[in-house]
Amino acid sequence: MDVTRICLDREYLIAPVDPRIFGGFLEHIGRAVYEGVYDPQSKHADEHGFRNDVLSSLKDLAFTAMRYPGGNFASGYHWMDGIGPLSTRPVVQELASLSIEPNQFGTDEFILLARKMNWIPMITGNLGTGTPEEARNWVEYCNRPVGTRFSDLRAKNGSVEPYDVKLWGLGNEMDGPWQQGHVPADLYAIRAQQAAKLMKDTDPSIELVVCGSAEIGLPTYMEWDRTVLEYVGDYADYISLHRYVGNSTGDTADYLAVTNSIDQQIEVMDGLCRYAQAKLRSRKRYYLAFDEWNVWYRTQDAESVNGHGKYAQHLVEEEYNLEDALVVAGFLNSFIRHADMVKIANLAQIVNVLAPILTRGDRILLQSIYYPIALYAQRREGVALQAIIRGPGYESKNYGFVHTIDASAILGKGVLHVFLINRSETEPATVEIDPVGIRLKSIQSAELVSAASAASCNTFEKPDTIHNHNLSNIKLADQKATMQLPPLCVAAISFVIDDKI
Ligand code: AHR
Repeated sequence: MDVTRICLDREYLIAPVDPRIFGGFLEHIGRAVYEGVYDPQSKHADEHGFRNDVLSSLKDLAFTAMRYPGGNFASGYHWMDGIGPLSTRPVVQELASLSIEPNQFGTDEFILLARKMNWIPMITGNLGTGTPEEARNWVEYCNRPVGTRFSDLRAKNGSVEPYDVKLWGLGNEMDGPWQQGHVPADLYAIRAQQAAKLMKDTDPSIELVVCGSAEIGLPTYMEWDRTVLEYVGDYADYISLHRYVGNSTGDTADYLAVTNSIDQQIEVMDGLCRYAQAKLRSRKRYYLAFDEWNVWYRTQDAESVNGHGKYAQHLVEEEYNLEDALVVAGFLNSFIRHADMVKIANLAQIVNVLAPILTRGDRILLQSIYYPIALYAQRREGVALQAIIRGPGYESKNYGFVHTIDASAILGKGVLHVFLINRSETEPATVEIDPVGIRLKSIQSAELVSAASAASCNTFEKPDTIHNHNLSNIKLADQKATMQLPPLCVAAISFVIDDKI
């Protein structure tokens, strides 16, 4: 069996890992909000109607930045429908998923939930059917001290203290013809610049995410991004990237190699940001907000996003298996490897819709993708280190050559975290961690997600097929760590290290 050697040199630092790359996304779609995080009828509901069972499972994933209220929903949402006494809020037709929106959960409930969960709120404004002024008013409602029209309204609704929402999105996927209010790039750029100016004049401390391409396959890919960045210029702090992947051909080896193309998507967008910065002679570097990413291919038909004029319908409830869990870990490895470019990333989404957690009545299921996310959640503080991989690999059908083992690493204070994925469907792998300038003292923790086959999954009937377990075969000798990984697995290992060498 060929050995994979992973060289980690203390001097090969990429950048500090921004905690916000471990973010999530909560959208008003299907059963994400209603029957997801918010379900006053459930026996698990707390005094605010939040589901305690869902929240306690979400706590272990420790999401940081939480994007809300959409997604496509954001482009038709008028935030003032979602504030004030519950009984006075309008029930409205919701066109993004052809549903109705009862507005029982809005800005105040989201902020309450975010505080309870220690999430950093990230609000997407409506740049589809909304106006720049409406977006600005929302900033005033959230962030101004009392004494003005909208900040006084917030106080009237229960919060004298500002919410201090620092992260705002300038719309969602405005390049997509499916988007409410979709316009060509130059028109969106004007809208975004107008909104950005008003929003930053309202609160100069906020940061803004401008809409980048929704899909790499769209004909306007990159041209859209260039037009928008060049026009919005320094009002933009981040540009968004979105990516959903899947195994629609049933080719696991190829699917697991998709990480190459995620790396490439990031690097290409970073190249564009640097181009725009140079063209504008700006001193400001624009960073990346990968604010929607996940596996999504089983529920992409029209019916899966059609609420038929009702709310809390079973929309886009993707059921995940082991290979999806490996791909999710691949996204996270890619974000860590590009810590100098990607500063925000949001798993789309967190409950029921494209989610690690499913509810059914009062029951809850933790899907396969829950487990790798939980592994990374405990090991994320520090500086990303370049992982130099030498070992076997294969030529994939669509994404070029990949090593059988995918890797990323974070150097923290007194600790080194290493994340590994074994892409082989049949072969266990011997992996040797070969640190340079880092003295491995002991193993703090080592965990693994694996199962019998790529298709293994958790179901309500059999919920424990996939979960995390200990990886106990690591040997430390001669300043190296050697381990055996089973086929198709994600491993996360934390070593205690000597800070002084
Ligand atoms: O996450 C589901 C949908 O996917 C979002 O609403 C939209 O932004 C994207 O197309």
